[in-house]
Amino acid sequence: MLFLKNPINYSRQNINKNDIKKVKNVLESDFLTQGPKVEEFENEINKFCKSRYSVACNSATSALHIACLALGLKRNDIVWTNPVSFVASANCALYCGAKVDYVDIDLNTFNITFENFKKKLFKTKKKNFPKILILVDYGGFPCDLDKIYKLARKNNIYVIQDSSHSLGAKYKNSKVGDCKFSDITVFSFHPVKIITTGEGGVATTKSKKLFNYMQMFRTHGITKDSKFFKKANKNTWYFEQQVLGYNYRMNDIEASLGISQLKRINKNLSERKKLAFNYNKNLNPKIKKINIKKFVKSSYHLYPVLIEKEKIGFSRDDLLKYLKKNNIHCQLHYIPIFEHPFHSINKKKKFAYFPNTMKFYECAISLPMYYGLKMNEQKFVIEKINKRIKNVNRNYNSSEG
Ligand SMILES: Cc1ncc(COP(=O)(O)O)c(C=O)c1O
Repeated sequence: MLFLKNPINYSRQNINKNDIKKVKNVLESDFLTQGPKVEEFENEINKFCKSRYSVACNSATSALHIACLALGLKRNDIVWTNPVSFVASANCALYCGAKVDYVDIDLNTFNITFENFKKKLFKTKKKNFPKILILVDYGGFPCDLDKIYKLARKNNIYVIQDSSHSLGAKYKNSKVGDCKFSDITVFSFHPVKIITTGEGGVATTKSKKLFNYMQMFRTHGITKDSKFFKKANKNTWYFEQQVLGYNYRMNDIEASLGISQLKRINKNLSERKKLAFNYNKNLNPKIKKINIKKFVKSSYHLYPVLIEKEKIGFSRDDLLKYLKKNNIHCQLHYIPIFEHPFHSINKKKKFAYFPNTMKFYECAISLPMYYGLKMNEQKFVIEKINKRIKNVNRNYNSSEG
């Protein structure tokens, strides 16, 4: 019987001595704000993701915002996204004055599908088509990217891939971030994500034009590149503000941590894969797991499962409480965006249009999954859950008999 000394959370950061040394070096250098480390980090992201251009930001939220701005999102435009996501996937559209609507997920992949997107598009009048579709690689698993991107572009809809969860994932042998199936892809480096910079994000694109716009929006709307100057001026001190931008820059302290973290990303990803394999193999089969399509290679940011009371004998909330008592702190990802009071939609509409999302909301739980989770800790989690299912079903069967 295993006992736990420390609590287990659903996720946490992984920091080693080398990370600390690299951050310390920057603190002792001439640059603390955006300097050479930010550009080096952007180049490393380009190498890792096979992307052409990267714009590092102080969060994925700001990267999503400048992505929307660069694609020309304006007041009263429409954006569609995944309701099972963090609110930032919708807020970035609202910052531009656009309206948000959602495509229902499916209960096998816990994500938007090509069929659901197509169905919604065909039911929508052309004048109400979205300007941007924001896809979410939920948990690290990309959705039907190729078919969705093709249909979207055919209808003049841009695609932003919110890959906050999926650094290192692949879809049909294409690295997430190379923008083969998106106009812009965004990653998050919040501490619970695949790698961390403390807070941070990056937007990648294959378009030089979108890259230039995003760089400008990230830095107050300012350009220092004389090629783009609206006023002729050859002085070296000269720069121009040309649009309303923001201070969304990453700094060198954050970038140096990101560079150091990227050096061990392959080990990070392979450990996550091993953990997922153990869960798949050892968790009670009554627990519904994500069904990964053959051509998807997940980064396993999360390990989400469905606890369906009618099959298992107790609810997701019962399981959360029971795990907490055993020092295992799991989480639900996510409260559907439209369930938040700020985003709320009418009750009839949510059950009529988003039945799978509502079912998911009732049953989903993310089990511990992070680089650094020890095998004996994972074994403890699995044993606790399986034992609980066995006990509840034994009691249930004996009371039936
Ligand atoms: C899907 C998704 N998009 C966007 C974000 C926002 O990321 P950040 O915290 O880096 O702004 C998150 C963070 O949890 C997320 O999970």
